[in-house]
Amino acid sequence: MSDAPTRPVTAVILVAAGSGQRLGYGMPKAAVPLGGDPILLHALRGIVAAGVAGQVCVALPPGDDGLRQMLDDFRLELADGGPLLTTVDGGATRADSVRSALAALEDGTEAVLVHDAARALAPESVFHRVAQALAAGALAVIPVIPVVDTVKTVAATTGEDSDIAPELVTGTAPRDELRAVQTPQGFSFATLKAAHEAALQFDESRAAAVTDDAMLVELLGVPVHAVRGASQSLKITTPLDLIIAEGLLEGPLGARWVEG
Ligand code: C5P
Repeated sequence: MSDAPTRPVTAVILVAAGSGQRLGYGMPKAAVPLGGDPILLHALRGIVAAGVAGQVCVALPPGDDGLRQMLDDFRLELADGGPLLTTVDGGATRADSVRSALAALEDGTEAVLVHDAARALAPESVFHRVAQALAAGALAVIPVIPVVDTVKTVAATTGEDSDIAPELVTGTAPRDELRAVQTPQGFSFATLKAAHEAALQFDESRAAAVTDDAMLVELLGVPVHAVRGASQSLKITTPLDLIIAEGLLEGPLGARWVEG
């Protein structure tokens, strides 16, 4: 008999309920076209291709019928044996969206990967590294990449225009200890549930400062493990990011892209 760890029953939560204001398209970011298809469709294809999940639960902007229709069409496209594809209405914050999806996962789910739809080009290899670390017994796993810029901390600015009232630098973080954190982030179901339940006690400003799931798990004192991410998992946030993502998909680099 093999000693290899058995794979937990895994679900992916795909959070796609953000407004995408910084992209400036006047529509939810998940619906913005990338290479002719909505960002959300690219993210879904990546998850299905990775083959790590029995269920994919997508948190959608409430009331967005276009994205719901797109998901219905994608469900029909999925070959037999593809993951169960479900949806929930997203919440006011990303953490609210994750919580809604967590509550809607199938009974018996043992592991959860939480993925930003905005990281639409995350390669299969990153899903595999995260899922493998979970299967090997980690309770929390995040994909990371090295930081290339020098990173400074600053005092919160009081001026309205930071060009006129520059921020005061308070320190320089040691770059070799810094990592930029991506998704999919993987957790045991029980760990992620406990982390999000604890966060329900946060006041509004603390809740607004929650930018990923791992930071909630860290607060529980659960060890979080880092595996190698990939630079093509960029989070499409600004118009420049969209240009880069288009370039990765369609440009001459796309065909030769091998990283990760
Ligand atoms: O806003 P931010 O860039 O942190 O969003 C990261 C991801 O979380 C995006 O894919 C976005 O759609 C999702 N999100 C969500 N519900 C919210 C806010 C963000 O599902 N209320």
